[in-house]
Amino acid sequence: MHRERRAVFCAILAVGCLAVAVKNVYAQPSGLDWGPCPDSAPANLTCAYFNIPLDYHDLFAGNGTLLVVKANATSGEPKGTIFMNPGGPGVSGLTSLATDGAKLMNHSGGVYDIVSWDARGVGPYTYPGDVFCLSDDESTTFWNGSIETTGINWLGNFTIQTDLDNFYSQAPIMDAQYRAFGEKCSQGPNGTNLMYIGTAATVRDLVTLADALQGPGTPIKYWGLSYGTIVGAWFMNMFPDRVGNVILDGVLDATAFDTKQSYQLWRDQVGSAEDVYNAFANACALAGPNECPLARFEGATGADVAVHDHTSASNISLLQLRASIYGGLYQPQQWASLANELAGDIESVLGSNTTSEARRIMAKRATYSTSYTEPAVLCGDSVNANSSLSMKNVFDEIVNVTRTVSPSFGAFWPIPWHRCLYRPARAVERYEGPLNTMLANRILVIGNAYDNATPFYEAQDTADILGNQAALVKQNGFGHTSIYQHSTCTANIIQAYLANGTLPSDALTVCEIDDSEELFPGVKSVSVTVNNTGIKE
Ligand SMILES: *[C@@H]1O[C@H](CO)[C@@H](O)[C@H](O)[C@H]1NC(C)=O
Ligand SMILES: *[C@@H]1O[C@H](CO)[C@@H](O)[C@H](O)[C@H]1NC(C)=O
Ligand SMILES: *[C@@H]1O[C@H](CO)[C@@H](O)[C@H](O)[C@H]1NC(C)=O
Ligand SMILES: *[C@@H]1O[C@H](CO)[C@@H](O)[C@H](O)[C@H]1NC(C)=O
Ligand SMILES: *[C@@H]1O[C@H](CO)[C@@H](O)[C@H](O)[C@H]1NC(C)=O
Ligand SMILES: *[C@@H]1O[C@H](CO)[C@@H](O)[C@H](O)[C@H]1NC(C)=O
Ligand SMILES: *[C@@H]1O[C@H](CO)[C@@H](O)[C@H](O)[C@H]1NC(C)=O
Ligand SMILES: *[C@@H]1O[C@H](CO)[C@@H](O)[C@H](O)[C@H]1NC(C)=O
Ligand SMILES: *[C@@H]1O[C@H](CO)[C@@H](O)[C@H](O)[C@H]1NC(C)=O
Ligand SMILES: *[C@@H]1O[C@H](CO)[C@@H](O)[C@H](O)[C@H]1NC(C)=O
Ligand SMILES: *[C@@H]1O[C@H](CO)[C@@H](O)[C@H](O)[C@H]1NC(C)=O
Ligand SMILES: *[C@@H]1O[C@H](CO)[C@@H](O)[C@H](O)[C@H]1NC(C)=O
Repeated sequence: MHRERRAVFCAILAVGCLAVAVKNVYAQPSGLDWGPCPDSAPANLTCAYFNIPLDYHDLFAGNGTLLVVKANATSGEPKGTIFMNPGGPGVSGLTSLATDGAKLMNHSGGVYDIVSWDARGVGPYTYPGDVFCLSDDESTTFWNGSIETTGINWLGNFTIQTDLDNFYSQAPIMDAQYRAFGEKCSQGPNGTNLMYIGTAATVRDLVTLADALQGPGTPIKYWGLSYGTIVGAWFMNMFPDRVGNVILDGVLDATAFDTKQSYQLWRDQVGSAEDVYNAFANACALAGPNECPLARFEGATGADVAVHDHTSASNISLLQLRASIYGGLYQPQQWASLANELAGDIESVLGSNTTSEARRIMAKRATYSTSYTEPAVLCGDSVNANSSLSMKNVFDEIVNVTRTVSPSFGAFWPIPWHRCLYRPARAVERYEGPLNTMLANRILVIGNAYDNATPFYEAQDTADILGNQAALVKQNGFGHTSIYQHSTCTANIIQAYLANGTLPSDALTVCEIDDSEELFPGVKSVSVTVNNTGIKE
């Protein structure tokens, strides 16, 4: 019944039906009913609930609700609103504004309200929210005996034959498990909503929200971080007339996202991970054993600090260690505390001293979240899998990436991208290009020189296809997105751009990190060097 109606609705209006559905059919009363935020959110955040159609192309499919969250401008009368998506997919706007709101406020000058939201598929307050496919009890039994819970063991460049044999023996097991999981998921309590939680729907939510908050058809200021840059890229190409100011920060390559098999995107995600890890190790070595316990002796070099070459610790703990490191590298301002935590973990992995505290830390990190949101969105939006592909192809790619791109982080498991061959649902709408549409205004693309989750070349490629419609800033520092290190240069560019659209005239601007930024006590970020691994493309 619903499907028939949708087919008629869209067949008649063809492409135009999309815009009509957004602009006219799903009109909402203007303004939002702001009130306190749920949970123990900071008192300086305000929240509201906002109704959305599950499917903008089938208004009979039913409605959902977004939790919307706002941080008021901190200095003076707000000059407008910046909409922000924190990435993931699956990161909560509420959580993100609670933890990073002050940084975003600082970088944008404090004169804009910043509005985010728990997107479709996220959290307990938005509906459709978090995705669950298996109960915790089911989960334990379901994945028993596979690498889904243990991860992959590998050493060095993934060249040891027993590592490879163990790994490849899991390929048919994962084929069967992911296929069965996909079926479980589509038959589970969230199954019928999976097709509604894609990126294109989130873009339409952004536009509908802006219509309600600041008036229909108004220019939109948008700041997308990490996966939020895919939301941004799709937004500006689906709604080029609505582009007011768009900042893409910590950029994923939307062209690759739109065209490559999902499992091939992991290559990019770890493209600079070794560099950032080496920088962390070098910074720790510069700090010395008093300030960084991973530098276990006076005169230790970065190579002594880095643990990926410790071939004696072939077990699961090493995997957890790598995962902790990869996640910790996102925020350089936390590197010193990361090193302190790791020192305990490493001792327990590589030495014989397994203190109860170290065990506790490791157990906490091993907890496997059963929320399926991230793969649900990424896979729901992914290109169709060629039916001849199987986990064997995915595994070949993992071995290749580990050998040629990132020995330390290449073989993580589970990774959302790697399960898309057996996705339970495709999103009702997917934006397939073009990605170089003529925009109402120029945009700002920011990439760190060394970002362990989104290498600079992705920002470069994204700016390149836009030609003179984009200005590119290379922030000459570390971490994932520009916000975890302070660069007055970057902040000034952001503020001028938001104020009046002014962008640097050069195609590429290099912004240094502020001299005051330290990675460890006494170790300035600007004085830390990066070893060229020589294994990047
Ligand atoms: C945010 O600003 C609005 C409008 O000025 C005000 O009503 C609200 O109380 C402010 N919220 C917070 C948490 O300060
Ligand atoms: C969904 O919300 C719209 C706009 O608020 C309303 O007109 C419509 O009746 C709702 N649809 C359903 C199925 O509840
Ligand atoms: C909100 O208040 C908290 C303290 O409760 C503070 O840490 C945070 O920086 C403030 N956020 C913003 C956006 O001003
Ligand atoms: C942002 O933070 C930097 C460094 O912490 C500080 O120098 C600057 O004054 C802040 N700017 C605003 C607008 O708060
Ligand atoms: C999944 O079900 C839970 C529990 O009913 C609900 O909170 C959540 O919003 C649902 N998510 C989706 C995508 O349907
Ligand atoms: C996992 O599998 C092993 C052996 O195949 C079995 O002994 C164990 O009971 C299973 N555990 C669960 C939780 O199903
Ligand atoms: C990985 O391969 C590179 C290039 O062949 C080599 O330089 C490096 O030593 C290898 N690393 C390990 C840990 O085997
Ligand atoms: C980087 O190179 C320097 C100079 O060769 C060396 O001392 C240091 O240990 C290297 N760092 C890492 C992390 O390999
Ligand atoms: C990890 O390695 C240590 C030392 O080789 C060993 O004692 C421990 O049992 C191993 N743990 C696992 C989970 O394999
Ligand atoms: C293990 O480390 C703890 C503190 O981290 C220390 O108190 C304890 O003596 C150590 N045990 C051994 C056997 O070295
Ligand atoms: C590894 O992948 C790259 C990029 O897809 C490809 O060019 C290369 O041939 C692969 N190497 C092997 C040994 O398969
Ligand atoms: C744009 O705004 C910035 C920051 O407020 C200011 O420095 C600059 O002069 C303005 N440029 C124009 C062309 O108005």
